[in-house]
Amino acid sequence: MTVELIREEDLKRLEEYVTETSVEVEGVLDKIIPAPSEDEESRLFEAMRYSVFSGGKRLRPVLLMATNDIFGGSRDHAARVAAAIESLHTYSLVHDDLPCMDDDDLRRGKPTCHKQFDEVTAVLAGDALQTLAFDIMSDERTHPQGRIRANLVSSLAKASGAQGMVGGQMIDMLAEDIDELDQGALARLQRKKTGALFSACCECGLILNEDRVKASDRMHLMNYARNIGLAFQMVDDILDEIGNEDEVGKRVRKDAERGKATFASLLGVEGAQNQARMLCEQAIQNLTHYGPKADILRILAQFVVARGH
Ligand code: IPE
Ligand code: IPE
Ligand code: MG
Ligand code: MG
Ligand code: MG
Repeated sequence: MTVELIREEDLKRLEEYVTETSVEVEGVLDKIIPAPSEDEESRLFEAMRYSVFSGGKRLRPVLLMATNDIFGGSRDHAARVAAAIESLHTYSLVHDDLPCMDDDDLRRGKPTCHKQFDEVTAVLAGDALQTLAFDIMSDERTHPQGRIRANLVSSLAKASGAQGMVGGQMIDMLAEDIDELDQGALARLQRKKTGALFSACCECGLILNEDRVKASDRMHLMNYARNIGLAFQMVDDILDEIGNEDEVGKRVRKDAERGKATFASLLGVEGAQNQARMLCEQAIQNLTHYGPKADILRILAQFVVARGH
């Protein structure tokens, strides 16, 4: 990681924030997902726990918690929403790795869920992680106001469904057979499959604080999320091309093998790095108004770019 892209002390600050957030979010999930027992469905709980506690970067929870912090919202409420989103994100990875999709055997440095268990268990664990997200969000402990809970559920449902992440995954799967996906079509795909969930993180942070959030805050933070969401997937594509398996915790050079159009294949690695940097600069410009309160979001954007170098 190059020093000029992210300062050592900022990286340390982000790492501390990630650790703090991970502890809170994992605490919520640990209490909710049943521990393995003698019950017949215990294998399902085991697979859910295996996938969710396998040490992801937890960037979506960080995005949500840091947005919530800007407005001084309750960290307990936000941690539950972040846990819901991380559960949903984990489901998307379990299904994305299945043989009928990307057919991957390594995730977060460990065997993928269907390799560790079997395909049936992985499909069901993914299903259960998805519904768990909505179970957590609609629970009174997430927010005392029913309207806010309904808005959270609606935000996540829209971002993760056919108009968002799942729609993006559909285009991604079809795109393996399309030779020439232009930049515009690729950006559309990536905004759906990855960007939508990033945007939902900021949106949920705003929903939790609706009494303090102005229309201009919404505009700034949603622009921020939109830009880093796309940059994040670009960097994921770059890392598939130039990354190292031990560092990224998943097999690399799979996109090229499959003939997938990515920003790295379309613009070259350097071109994609420049685009990601530009997007993150634009993301950061939306935070000017918040001063030091937005430091974590600022550093997060720098981290996203730095990962791709
Ligand atoms: C991987 O997401 C899937 C993409 C959308 C690129 P992450 O890179 O955030 O995965 P984890 O949660 O850290 O494992
Ligand atoms: C996955 O994109 C996006 C979702 C799971 C929604 P990728 O297929 O590029 O993610 P990785 O590289 O397997 O993590
Ligand atoms: Mg995929
Ligand atoms: Mg994949
Ligand atoms: Mg990828």
